[in-house]
Amino acid sequence: MTVLLDAPQIHERIVSLAAEIESDYPPDDEIHLVGVLKGGFVFMADLIRAMSARVTLDFIAVSSYQQSTRSSGEVRLLKDVDARLEGRHVIIVEDIVDTGLTLTYLQDILRARAPKSLRTACLLSKPSRRLVDVKVEYIGFTIEDKFVIGYGLDFAEKFRNLPHIAVMDET
Ligand code: IMP
Ligand code: MG
Repeated sequence: MTVLLDAPQIHERIVSLAAEIESDYPPDDEIHLVGVLKGGFVFMADLIRAMSARVTLDFIAVSSYQQSTRSSGEVRLLKDVDARLEGRHVIIVEDIVDTGLTLTYLQDILRARAPKSLRTACLLSKPSRRLVDVKVEYIGFTIEDKFVIGYGLDFAEKFRNLPHIAVMDET
């Protein structure tokens, strides 16, 4: 296991992402973050604490990977958001954009709820793996095609609790 991004590096990037997001919306408008479970919850937790009091949040759960480092290409909705999105500024908060299939699916279903605006924030992006051209307005770090774990990201449901992001050595 090799550390790719340590905790202070991640923290610094999130603080600047939060500032960028805040400056992109009119100062009096609420911003509603929709965190994607489970992988996005650590990023979500740190991002909201770097933002101002106008933030509200909700969670949605999907499954795309089944105990494997390869995408099945199939996205399933496991848990929908609790609150209505109509007329709100919505930002999807996800751990990583890989093939882009998960986010394309999420953007499609959330856009259908008529939000005032819909954007996406991802801590990580692996552009070399993209199968669909998905729009992600806020990206923390662009990384190479390596399977990573920690800071919310798992391998077979483990390692989500690592405070840093590490490269999983292929076995
Ligand atoms: P996509 O649909 O291929 O873009 O995959 C997105 C989802 O796959 C993410 O939400 C992650 O849960 C998972 N994923 C993709 N790459 C990695 C990785 O390197 N480590 C852990 N999970 C990953
Ligand atoms: Mg995920």
